[in-house]
Amino acid sequence: MNKLKELIESLRPHSPNPEAEIDTVLKLEFNISLVEARASGIPHGIFEKLSKIVRERIKTGRPVQYILGKALFYGRVFIVNEHVLIPRVETELLVIKAISTIREYSLKKIVDVGTGSGIIAITLKKEFPQLEVTATDISFEALEVARKNAASHKVRINFVQCDLLSCFDDKFDLVVSNPPYLGENEPLGEFRRFEPQIALYGGKKGLELSFQLINQAKNRLKKPGYIIMEINPFTATELVKELRDYELFKDYNGMPRVLVIKNG
Ligand SMILES: C[S@@+](CC[C@H](N)C(=O)[O-])C[C@H]1O[C@@H](n2cnc3c(N)ncnc32)[C@H](O)[C@@H]1O
Repeated sequence: MNKLKELIESLRPHSPNPEAEIDTVLKLEFNISLVEARASGIPHGIFEKLSKIVRERIKTGRPVQYILGKALFYGRVFIVNEHVLIPRVETELLVIKAISTIREYSLKKIVDVGTGSGIIAITLKKEFPQLEVTATDISFEALEVARKNAASHKVRINFVQCDLLSCFDDKFDLVVSNPPYLGENEPLGEFRRFEPQIALYGGKKGLELSFQLINQAKNRLKKPGYIIMEINPFTATELVKELRDYELFKDYNGMPRVLVIKNG
């Protein structure tokens, strides 16, 4: 067995997807993918550093993104720490929907609620430099991470510590959000136990914060205006029960994951 394969096998008992984790480390730290490393091999020095990170991952159980202090999202690198959620690939779908909506309706003023590391707000500002972008979070520590990311990506975003949209009288064209949406009894898997609880739990059934956000957004959106939010596929039916003008979009696993609501 070659050394890279041995390393992957050493991680397998501790990880649901060791290939994906090693690919993440290789991309973030050494700028190569696992496919490239397999095809052309990796220099001894890089292999030693990679093994050290994998050993720490096995010993502590911490996600590799927290060990490295960074994560990939929509092709860019973002600073992360234990105060923010690790970006999920499903959230890229929300960003794709937001990009097409901003483009189609020439939207100008948006707010990202529960910005965490800032991935959504910063990605949208990078795609549309003229966009007026506000980003909120209830967590002071998360906003510190988001501010660092905005600085490293050289974008100006108005960060506000706020409970959902309660601090605003403004009228926005678009509210984007990946709110906490787990119910209180949902188990914390392998990685979630390292992530901040405030980023994960959205009330008893997981829907409370999403309902609150939709209600608050109605008075803070122009007409027409849009809400684009990531949702928990398992409670999607209940969430949309009372809504009128909306669409649901499925993720790569065929699960309803992004909700687009039109206001007015
Ligand atoms: C699921 S995380 C999403 C983080 C980031 N937007 C992303 O997609 O990776 C939810 C975020 O909402 C924040 N949050 C939780 N309750 C909030 C509230 N009442 N008002 C504003 N932000 C809140 C958390 O601190 C966390 O950063």
